[in-house]
Formats: sequence, structure tokens, C-alpha cells
Amino acid sequence: MASTSSANGAVAAQTGPTLPPNASRLPQTAQLDALLTIIRDASTPRSDFIFYSDRIIRLLVEEGLNHLPTVPQTVMTPTGFSYSGVSFQGRICGVSILRAGEAMEAGLRECCRSVRIGKILIQRDEETAKPKLFYAKLPEDIAERWVLLLDPMLATGGSAIKAIEVLIENGVKAEQILFLNLIASPEGLANMYSKFPQVKVISAWVDERLDEKSYIIPGLGDYGDRYYSG
Ligand code: URA
Repeated sequence: MASTSSANGAVAAQTGPTLPPNASRLPQTAQLDALLTIIRDASTPRSDFIFYSDRIIRLLVEEGLNHLPTVPQTVMTPTGFSYSGVSFQGRICGVSILRAGEAMEAGLRECCRSVRIGKILIQRDEETAKPKLFYAKLPEDIAERWVLLLDPMLATGGSAIKAIEVLIENGVKAEQILFLNLIASPEGLANMYSKFPQVKVISAWVDERLDEKSYIIPGLGDYGDRYYSG
């Protein structure tokens, strides 16, 4: 989608679709658009794809952390004065949806020291054609944590819905889940929100639609292939 930017970097023409109440996009700045333009470009080499998508992931994680609750905290500074600030209220963990979600783990670790990260593998069941859980390894105390769910592309929403079901079966409340992705489709958002309206979704960008093979259009192709195999 074409866009023009003003001197302060705000993107003017990128209006995008109306989002469900708990869905949001990163600030649609010219910088973000430029980063996305690089990773969307089919001629971008793998090393650049990794570098620039890592930059977007970092922005997503920083924005995700803005959505976590804080409590007042007062500290003494070296000047001998007190400062009334805040600290995060609860603990967090990441859960990546394999394989592409693993690419987002480093960005989370850069922002959150020693963060626990679980993994979920979901694939299409050959018989039913529905998403099926193949593997899950989650922190044992996940029910007491805020969960940053990581998957770069929200296409049909099938894997995300299955992953959220697994988290809920493990005691996580839907409102404790923040789903971070680089590009979402309107269809995937609608599908996910029809089941889990309380989950917060943060996307860098929301694209136009899915094609008949469930690729996001204009999208960037297969994220896992581009990140892991070039
Ligand atoms: N997964 C991807 O990697 N790309 C898409 O366009 C859709 C799903």
C-alpha cells in the first residue's frame, strides 16, 4: 500500500482497515514502512531480511511491554533524593509458535533479561486439514505470567487460535496474552477475535487480504523460508 510521510515521519496515506477493539498496530511511521519495504522486497538477501525483520521485532516487543500493567515504586537515587516511579506488576514469558516464531525469540531476550520462553509446534492434520498440536513445552508456572505469543505472520489465524487454546488449557487467561506479529491479515484478525476477543494483538502492519493459498497479500512470502533458508 502506497504511503507518503511528513517531516516527523508519520505516514499519511496508510489508513488501513478498521481493527477489532483489542487489536493495534505499531505507530505507522515512515521508518517502519521503510523497514517493512526492505523485508517485503523479493530481492532482499537473507542477511538483510534477518537484520531488518529483527529491527521490527524489537519495535514490536518494546510496544508489547508498553501494554503490561505497572505498580508504583519509589527508589532512592545516588543524590539522596527519592524518585516515585513504577515497576512491572507481574512476570512475563514468551511462547513462540514454531518454526517462524523462533525468529522472534532473540528480540524478546534483548529486551527482557533471562526471560523464560516456551514453544508450541502446530501443523496441519493431514486427515482433517485442521491445525493440530504436535508439541508444547511451556514454563510450569505459565498461568501466573503474562504471555507474549510470538508468530511473525497472522494469516488465517488457525495456528494462533490453536496456540491460544493450548495456553488456556494450561491455565493462562485470554486477557494475559499479547500476540505479537509483523504482518496480519484482516481475515486472520477477524477469525481470531471471533473466538478470543480478550487477547491483545499487536501487529506492525495489517495487509489487504489472503490469497487462495492463504498467503498474506502483498505480504512478504513465507517468513520462515526467508529467515531460515534465504
Ligand atoms: N505464513 C507466511 O510465512 N507467510 C504468509 O503470507 C502466510 C503465512
